[in-house]
Amino acid sequence: MSHAVAEMARPPVDLTELRTLAMFEEHAAAVLPLDVFASASGGPSVATLERNRQALRHLAIEQRVLMNVKTVDTRAYFVGMTLPSPIIVSPMDGLPRFHPEGDLALARGATRHGGMTVVAGGCTWPLETIGAAATGPLMFQLDWLGDRDWVSEKLQRVYAGGFKAVCLAVDADTQAGLTWDDVDWVRAQLALPFGLKGIMTAPDARLALDRGVDFIWVSNHGGRRLDDGRATIDALLEIAQVVRGRVPLIVDSGFRRGTDAMKALALGATLVAFGRTVLWGLAAAGADGVQQVLQLLHDELVINMKLAGRTVTSELPPDIIRRVDSAGFAQPIRLPGA
Ligand SMILES: Cc1cc2nc3c(=O)[nH]c(=O)nc-3n(C[C@H](O)[C@H](O)[C@H](O)COP(=O)(O)O)c2cc1C
Repeated sequence: MSHAVAEMARPPVDLTELRTLAMFEEHAAAVLPLDVFASASGGPSVATLERNRQALRHLAIEQRVLMNVKTVDTRAYFVGMTLPSPIIVSPMDGLPRFHPEGDLALARGATRHGGMTVVAGGCTWPLETIGAAATGPLMFQLDWLGDRDWVSEKLQRVYAGGFKAVCLAVDADTQAGLTWDDVDWVRAQLALPFGLKGIMTAPDARLALDRGVDFIWVSNHGGRRLDDGRATIDALLEIAQVVRGRVPLIVDSGFRRGTDAMKALALGATLVAFGRTVLWGLAAAGADGVQQVLQLLHDELVINMKLAGRTVTSELPPDIIRRVDSAGFAQPIRLPGA
């Protein structure tokens, strides 16, 4: 399939030169057309975007020593699947603007070694083609863009593509007419694990649980939707208190480092999804770039687990995380409702 995209005569990248996550972002800023880089890295809500980062920066991890941390178990357990890592890729549309093999390269790179990626409703290739490119599990992110017949037809394609789960994005203004009744309807139709992406409050998490969702995705779309909204790590804290392990939680928005993932895992997430960070890998070198970014994130997670004296990512307790005040002193986190 050929796409008229902004890529094109970019020289091949020597991936050994992109040794850090920051280098991938710098590379993307240098090689992508300005409007493409700016529209992806920014968003209408600078306030939410910055708050996601600020809240993560204000959390510190406790250092522990002499605890035999030779091996770290990073397996994650999600709706009947065992994934090798809790780090996954968020759904993103418009991928041919970043690499000519777009969704195919993302699925290939992300699912090497069994990792999971989430394919955006607005993907460019047919779901069956993306499914065939992947070597590990895929989730589909449903955008509700037609009537119920349209959704039913879309779900048939999801089955044909071999997808393992579906999330409905509920934070887009193009879907303003949706209600919890529509959630009930999809739930009843669907023969796959089903969750909602874009839950940001305890009351909405309770409603989602009442509706029988299989997982909840805490997200503010990477700060690309509600302006002046809350940070997702902040929302995760209160949502985890409501959900209390009954369904797995995914979180994304503003996560940039392996240590960010560690903080979210300790505060109740089962999986941590990365959007832009992985996009810069795609822009640099397609599937290989995606794989390298995910490897860097994973390596950071593992090394910092060891430095914190911890060996199982799915069993990180919340008390390894402290909230740093404006003077730089770290206090225990008071969990909402605890
Ligand atoms: C270029 C781009 C396109 C996106 N497209 C979608 C989309 O089609 N559907 C969706 O649910 N979220 C979409 N998102 C939001 C991501 O799924 C995710 O929530 C967000 O990027 C995570 O934040 P981060 O980029 O700071 O990691 C998009 C984000 C970006 C940067």
